Amino acid sequence: MTSTWHFDPTPGAANRLPETVLETVRSAQRAVVFGGAGMSAESGIATFRDAQSGALWARFDAEQLATPEAFLRDPERVWGWYEWRRMQVLQARPNVAHRAVVELAQRLPQLRVITQNVDDLHERAGSREVLHLHGSLHQARCFDCAAAHPLDALPDEPEGGRYLAPPRCLCCGGPVRPGVVWFGESLDPHVLDAAFAAAGACDLFLSVGTSGLVHPAAQLPDVARQQGATLLHVNPQRPQGVSGEDVCLLGPAGQILPLLLRQAWG
Ligand code: OAD
Repeated sequence: MTSTWHFDPTPGAANRLPETVLETVRSAQRAVVFGGAGMSAESGIATFRDAQSGALWARFDAEQLATPEAFLRDPERVWGWYEWRRMQVLQARPNVAHRAVVELAQRLPQLRVITQNVDDLHERAGSREVLHLHGSLHQARCFDCAAAHPLDALPDEPEGGRYLAPPRCLCCGGPVRPGVVWFGESLDPHVLDAAFAAAGACDLFLSVGTSGLVHPAAQLPDVARQQGATLLHVNPQRPQGVSGEDVCLLGPAGQILPLLLRQAWG
């Protein structure tokens, strides 16, 4: 049966994690950290569906911004929206949860980081070989020929409330698009295979800050569970897809991940 533990924000609260959880983490041989927008929420990057931390898809219409059809219809609008988001990420810093993942990898050298986030905050915190299931804001490519396109260090500012047109591809002259996966598009098969292989081979699957609503990413916990891994969910709210013997650690990642480290090895 799923067990649930709540973080207590009261100053001085003991917040002792269950010993079974600490022992599972300590003894993991092949751990996976699987993250979503909640991992970057404490860096000030908006989430997609959580009203407490941004809810981008309540404020913006995904059909007008996150599909290939939207880009073809209004490339300036789509390009500008992603450049606005890239600017926010460039101005943000990795938070304590990103840094805790780096420390966890020092304790558990086989740890793999799989993220749905399109920012580079894990890398800037020091994580290596992060699997980006949904691409990256920092790796634009040509819409027509898929050639990689270098981005200016700083995004363009809008002119008269309107962003500039996307740059043209240096190889074929086609429009350059953001390097993220849009609705209706397939994930990079190499990244997806590597993520499924890691989930299928792990003994600890630590899911952090994801609503568990977007597929195929949301299947990764099921794959890990079927192979006998222990699943820990770190999230202020119970996410979708929790089942079986999973453990929910309810609270912000920036509080719970450091507690896990400190108490498991402290
Ligand atoms: P969501 O916005 O759907 O979910 C964010 C989750 O983070 C929610 O469950 C929140 O409760 C949780 N959360 C908020 N603050 C947190 C904190 N401080 N610590 C831990 N958890 C916190 O984001 P994702 O699950 O990442 O796709 O969404 C999946 C995909 O949907 C995204 O990758 C994006 C979007 O459409 C693409 O860009 C292709």
